[in-house]
Amino acid sequence: MKHVFIGNHPSIQKIREIIARVSPSSHLPVLIIGETGTGKEVVARVLHASSPRNKGKFVKVNCAALPLTLLESELFGYERGAFTGAVSSKPGKFEIASNGVIFLDEIGDMPPLLQAKLLQVVQGQEFTRLGGTRDIKVDTWVIAATNHNLLEDIRQGLFREDLYYRLRVIEIKIPPLRERREDIPLLTEYFIGKHQRELNLKGDFKLGDDLADLFQTYHWPGNVRELSSVILRLMVGEEPDAVRDEILRTMEADKVNWPEGIIRVPQNMVRPRQQSTTGDLPLKSLKELRAEATRNIEQRVIRYALDLAGWNKRKASKMLQISYKTLFYKMEELGIQKTRGPLRSTS
Ligand SMILES: Nc1ncnc2c1ncn2[C@@H]1O[C@H](COP(=O)(O)OP(=O)(O)OP(=O)(O)O)[C@@H](O)[C@H]1O
Ligand SMILES: [Mg+2]
Repeated sequence: MKHVFIGNHPSIQKIREIIARVSPSSHLPVLIIGETGTGKEVVARVLHASSPRNKGKFVKVNCAALPLTLLESELFGYERGAFTGAVSSKPGKFEIASNGVIFLDEIGDMPPLLQAKLLQVVQGQEFTRLGGTRDIKVDTWVIAATNHNLLEDIRQGLFREDLYYRLRVIEIKIPPLRERREDIPLLTEYFIGKHQRELNLKGDFKLGDDLADLFQTYHWPGNVRELSSVILRLMVGEEPDAVRDEILRTMEADKVNWPEGIIRVPQNMVRPRQQSTTGDLPLKSLKELRAEATRNIEQRVIRYALDLAGWNKRKASKMLQISYKTLFYKMEELGIQKTRGPLRSTS
């Protein structure tokens, strides 16, 4: 399988340069850092594929998935009789990856006891199997990845500082997708093609302008993986409106501002901001004030539209240019209910 690392953003170009620089010698430990879904495994696989070790194996170990003793035997293997149930000996992943790459995924979750043993291996590439006495020598390229802030883990005593410096001889930092939005259209196009090929989907698929705009504003907490799966869902028939609603809900939950124009505010609905007569500084933060103001405006605009539409939610959602579901959700969230009976002015 061919592994491609898509992107033109300067940060991605820089990563490609690093890959080109370290792959030929393929022995300096590499630490890949990035949020979930940013492409850490892609980078590790591209490193392997572009190195002379590509004839050897790419062996992935998820350091977070196993308890201490299992992880230890997984990494270093065991001899017969090392523990109950060890009826025959078994090589560990380090041995299997000799002449290839061992990819230590989620290294930040490796138990401290094993970190010491790993340090020895990274330093000398020698170890013994569990229950064994024989030194085993391997020639393995160690590539580790994490989404932790390891420096913080070190401060908290969760990660060994010496191991950290050993592993990050070469450091590759992949920025989150929201910090390289220029690449979103390119990645979108790439995933459309990829899914189309893999699922053998017929027909032309194009992302609507509305969604393309929203993609540029969305903060993509799941990064490139999320983008890929959103595109896949659209391609297999999920309603764009449903995807849009979900994105807006995530933005709302994560307190990210909605893009302008999602709810058009009629000019006459916006009251000029009241001046403070006391001269006091506002006690709330600007962010809080903005959130409050947005809420107020949304509340008024939605009520206004619903009144105009005679509380027909479909009509109102059209006026507001939001989906029926979003309107429904917003009404619930903002506590908007139809007032029973006509309101009478008391003045
Ligand atoms: N730059 C990229 N070009 C092409 N595909 C990418 C890119 N970045 C990520 N992907 C795709 O996005 C998905 C997630 O990537 P990957 O598994 O490498 O992320 P990760 O950083 O290892 O995430 P996690 O921390 O959750 O394990 C994969 O399907 C991968 O193929
Ligand atoms: Mg991964």
